[in-house]
Amino acid sequence: MNTVKIKNLTKTFVKITALDNLSLNIEKGKITGLIGADGAGKTTLLRTIIGLLIPDSGDISTLGFNPVTQKNELTPLIGYMPQKFGLYEDLTVLENLTLYADLKNVPHNFEKMLEFTKLAPFQDRLAGALSGGMKQKLGLACTLLGNPEFLLLDEPSVGVDPISRRDLMQMVREMINPNTTVLWSTAYLDEAHSFDTAVVIDKGKVIYDGRPHDLGATAQEFENKVIDLMGGYKQEPSKIAENYTLLKEIKECTVEADNLEKKYGNFYAVKNNSFCINKGEIFGLLGPNGAGKSTSFKMMCGLAKPTNGTAKIMGIDITKDPEKARSNLGYMAQKFSLYGSLTVRENLEFFASAYGIKFKNRTAKVQEIIEVFGLKDFADQKSEELPLGLKQRLSMACALIHNPPVLFLDEPTSGVDVITRRDFWNHITSLAKKGVTILVTTHFMDEAEYCDRISLFYHGETIALGTPQELKDKAGAKTMEETFITLIKESEGE
Ligand SMILES: Nc1ncnc2c1ncn2[C@@H]1O[C@H](COP(=O)(O)OP(=O)(O)OP(=O)(O)O)[C@@H](O)[C@H]1O
Ligand SMILES: [Mg+2]
Repeated sequence: MNTVKIKNLTKTFVKITALDNLSLNIEKGKITGLIGADGAGKTTLLRTIIGLLIPDSGDISTLGFNPVTQKNELTPLIGYMPQKFGLYEDLTVLENLTLYADLKNVPHNFEKMLEFTKLAPFQDRLAGALSGGMKQKLGLACTLLGNPEFLLLDEPSVGVDPISRRDLMQMVREMINPNTTVLWSTAYLDEAHSFDTAVVIDKGKVIYDGRPHDLGATAQEFENKVIDLMGGYKQEPSKIAENYTLLKEIKECTVEADNLEKKYGNFYAVKNNSFCINKGEIFGLLGPNGAGKSTSFKMMCGLAKPTNGTAKIMGIDITKDPEKARSNLGYMAQKFSLYGSLTVRENLEFFASAYGIKFKNRTAKVQEIIEVFGLKDFADQKSEELPLGLKQRLSMACALIHNPPVLFLDEPTSGVDVITRRDFWNHITSLAKKGVTILVTTHFMDEAEYCDRISLFYHGETIALGTPQELKDKAGAKTMEETFITLIKESEGE
């Protein structure tokens, strides 16, 4: 039995072929993972399956309906979680759940959801005040309400910490009926083995459709096979790093957090954060959703006022001289925060001018960065229309355009495909070698290994600090993921 039957489906947007004569069946009662590069067509496929987009040609049947002509019959049977789920930011967690339950005509039975998402203690908090990962979990909970027959989840685990990602999958497995079909798109290849079927798409075509184990027995093998299928990854010297010029000559404590604290009412988002990062060091801030990582970043960039303490960038106090401190800094926010209605090129030009790059150099600089980040084909597209992974590339490009000596990257690789992730890290490590100081967060544990030092952050406090090897030794663990889980659990026990 198939929930979805697709034959020779094609969908093009102005210049881009998103789905290219694609044929695919999705089995009923199974969890199918949809894996692909940024812009491979994952979102277009999901949206075509439920009739939000009309294909140019081809046949498609969803739960026996034609999603275009029988949309009204189909919609009540579907639970769809888009990448940007429509949470009501001015309503609390509980009010959002209540609203979605009412919309779907189901009882207000939220206990299990709140427990799974670990949102129970925060049910009265405004959704707008949740951390990125907490929002993602709430979105999923709202989508699961009403037991839809067919669940389509567009990258539900983006930005969700490794412990909670396991919980999300378990939550979906436990909350659905045996007959429910799930289509789950993801950029986390380590999730692949928890799917019944893995479908890999690239450039609008299916390049693998089968059991994940048949492609690769372990996560690492699977990842390498997917990279091969997508044409392979060849590491080249980072052009960005090659062209980088650093002027300042401070070596020690180029970035310093000094007893940073942030309180919202009685709640400590950051309780006590102190560290000192040296020139050319990659410093990773790791921790579960809601730990206070982004809040620390925001205080350190002068975007949020610390309740106590301060931070220094290249020796300049961010609370005393925010503008001067910030001119030394490139910041990539966790949430896409560029100008959606401007094109890729316009955004880069805007940032180039805002950061004081002289007009005569600007066009060349923008062109260079467009090429280096592989944004050429998208340069004249509105940035809000870009696939998630490409938005991330553009954000990173904007943060780097003025050659700052310090880079703050808040989850730069969330939602980015595996090949681009390697590329990002090639740039990051090459920039560090050039002397750029880098503060970075990630929920990919393999990336933690690239950091020189890691601060493990939980409930607003540092619970461990050291090199990846030191932390592994401390936890008595072999992998970073094991280390993360062990140290978090230990600190919970205390
Ligand atoms: N304006 C606010 N009012 C109340 N609480 C807030 C506000 N902003 C943030 N918080 C809370 O502070 C805590 C830390 O949030 P923060 O965004 O720093 O977490 P994070 O570590 O970056 O998490 P994630 O991995 O999900 O991005 C969360 O519990 C969040 O709900
Ligand atoms: Mg965050």
